[in-house]
Amino acid sequence: MSDVPEISPEAVDAAVADALAAVAAASDTAALKQARSAHQGEGSPLATFNAQMRSVAKERKAEFGKLIGQARGRVNQAFAAREAELQEAEVAAQLEAERVDITAVASRTRQGARHPMGLMQETITDIFVGLGWEIEEGPELEHEWFNFDSLNLDEDHPARQMQDTFFVDPIERHLVLRTQTSPVQMRTMLERRGTLDERPIYMLSPGRVARTDEFDATHLPVFTQAEGLVIDKGITMAHLKGTLDHLARQLFGAEAKTRLRTNHFPFTEPSAEFDLWHPTFTGGARWIEWGGCGMVNPNVLRAAGIDPEVYSGFAFGLGIERALMFRSDVQDMRDMAEGDVRFSEQFGMVV
Ligand code: DAH
Repeated sequence: MSDVPEISPEAVDAAVADALAAVAAASDTAALKQARSAHQGEGSPLATFNAQMRSVAKERKAEFGKLIGQARGRVNQAFAAREAELQEAEVAAQLEAERVDITAVASRTRQGARHPMGLMQETITDIFVGLGWEIEEGPELEHEWFNFDSLNLDEDHPARQMQDTFFVDPIERHLVLRTQTSPVQMRTMLERRGTLDERPIYMLSPGRVARTDEFDATHLPVFTQAEGLVIDKGITMAHLKGTLDHLARQLFGAEAKTRLRTNHFPFTEPSAEFDLWHPTFTGGARWIEWGGCGMVNPNVLRAAGIDPEVYSGFAFGLGIERALMFRSDVQDMRDMAEGDVRFSEQFGMVV
């Protein structure tokens, strides 16, 4: 090659120095390969000097031959040593990168499941859907009129007092966190009052309610009720009783039944509390209090624009947490609210 000088001890030394510098500078095997072709390959100074040997004067051939032989030997050795070194480092780096820590704790995503309260609500809902009832929903942030006034709970009814109800600021807007699912009765009646002849009301409304109660084994400040309402012609208390008994049997077995105990609710007349005969209660079959019910008060029908001379109806409200407590022997209501998966797992992993 034209830019390679004439062979001389100095030129050979310089070529060797260049090659060794390139060897030292190569930081990986790919760079080393490139350096090798530049300093040992065809056209490189050392290869060219070798070719020049043909034209070297006879008496100097031995001297130059030795010079080039040694130079090529040194450079070869340097390349080989550096290659071994770089290869070793690269293999080590690869092993490190691909290393599997067999002692690491595997991260397992647990399968989720429905909360038992959701399942219980669905079970109850399904029982009524099976009877042909409709499911209604109402807002959890409710107007005082729906939650109280329209249900015949007047201004100074004890249930309206500050200690029971979460009033929502600003107070002039008269919004509350509903204390019961009963306001859905009124919403449904108002919506449907014009079409009762073709489509009487048979509705269930499950949902969340709130009261300023303690958080303890038998109270939750936020809990779940289901409200039932029937408005039709010729409805009697016998229909109410039959419906509650059906629900009891579906949830608690063939021997379950209900009984009514006289009570007062402003929105029903007559009113009753209803107890459940729980045949499989741990500690023995017994009556336990479950909810409130009665015949819809004519005042409530009138507030909804429904003629109490033509239509009558029954209503009931029950606690879904209580249903779950009875059915699955849950001792502490807080377990239902805290969201500990160990609680839910006991009910099976229904998705
Ligand atoms: N709303 C009542 C409560 O939360 C329960 C109740 C009683 C609902 C009688 C009714 C009823 O529909 O007729 O305590």
